[in-house]
Amino acid sequence: MLASFKSIGAYTPSRALTNKDFEKIVDTSDEWIKQRTGIENRYIAADDQSTSDLAYEAAKVAIERSGLEHSEIDAIICATITPDFFCMPSTACVIADKLGISHVTAFDISAACSGFVYALNIAKAFVESGIKKNVLIIGAEKLSSIVDYQERTTCILFGDGAGAAIIGTTDKKEESILDVHTSADGSFQDFLITPGGGSTNPCSQKVLDERLQFMKMKGNETFKVAVNTLTKDVKNILEKNNMTSEDIDFFIPHQANFRIIDAVGKKLNFPTEKIVLTVAKYGNTSAASIPMAINDWYESGKLKTGNLMLLDTFGGGLTWGSALAHFNQK
Ligand code: ACO
Repeated sequence: MLASFKSIGAYTPSRALTNKDFEKIVDTSDEWIKQRTGIENRYIAADDQSTSDLAYEAAKVAIERSGLEHSEIDAIICATITPDFFCMPSTACVIADKLGISHVTAFDISAACSGFVYALNIAKAFVESGIKKNVLIIGAEKLSSIVDYQERTTCILFGDGAGAAIIGTTDKKEESILDVHTSADGSFQDFLITPGGGSTNPCSQKVLDERLQFMKMKGNETFKVAVNTLTKDVKNILEKNNMTSEDIDFFIPHQANFRIIDAVGKKLNFPTEKIVLTVAKYGNTSAASIPMAINDWYESGKLKTGNLMLLDTFGGGLTWGSALAHFNQK
């Protein structure tokens, strides 16, 4: 039995935060943000919306488009670095409850921006081993809850949102997820880090005074490793599958920064019409970035059933991953 990418769904909160809005919050300009990142807008969840609320909306769409009943889902994996609750319960359990699905395997994974590709890898293994039949995978983030809006280098980058997909079965190679690679290098752990609130620096007045509950990033260093790793990763997965960029219908990279995507696309000779770009609209939504981009291309009529997608991602950890998957929503 092979695993297949059966459907996509996404949800974007309604509150827009434009570059012009940031000019009133920190010392920055629309021009700087556009030039250095390609970002023009991002969406921010309402104060009373949790990550699971965003995930629930995206999951409902993905399930409906798959034609499955909720009761046919036998696993839920939520990739997030902004879970509803610290430690427990998992956001996947909360989502299961909101969807009315009980007696289901449900858990979160933490692989930052690479989370969706990591979840895809686990779902593929579940399905191909026969352990599960229909796995709901979700990338969902309320990054506004860990962004420091006093720090101009990071706050302008991130937005909130969610994307979801159903991974089911097929017996046809041309409908299947061909390959998924995931990897990590913990020696770069301090490039992207939320230092406070975990067992190293439990929540305390000191953590709050030093603003350690917020995400910190070494932007320049991350940028360089991102370009090199993403390029290497794509070359690797294409070579292993005896393919070239010509075999790919859409290259769907993590939407962190237009300059990173542009540099990687040029190194890999991808024509611009094959590169999926949503970073201007949504900013970096971490684990939600790739499924939101897939959904955007599907809803705009560009991504069609049978198309071969090449996913490529990179994030805190550092983690990275790539995948070759046919889009098999019928
Ligand atoms: N507005 C205006 N000026 C700014 C801003 C801002 N928002 N932010 C920084 N600057 C200034 C800096 O202070 C610096 O000024 P100086 O020259 O006087 O010292 C100047 O702009 C250049 O700063 P750099 O940090 O060198 O800017 P750079 O061009 O590298 O862009 C950025 C910064 C956008 C963060 C870039 O490094 C980047 O995108 N890095 C990668 C981030 C990423 O991909 N993260 C991936 C994963 S995210 C995850 O896993 C959750």
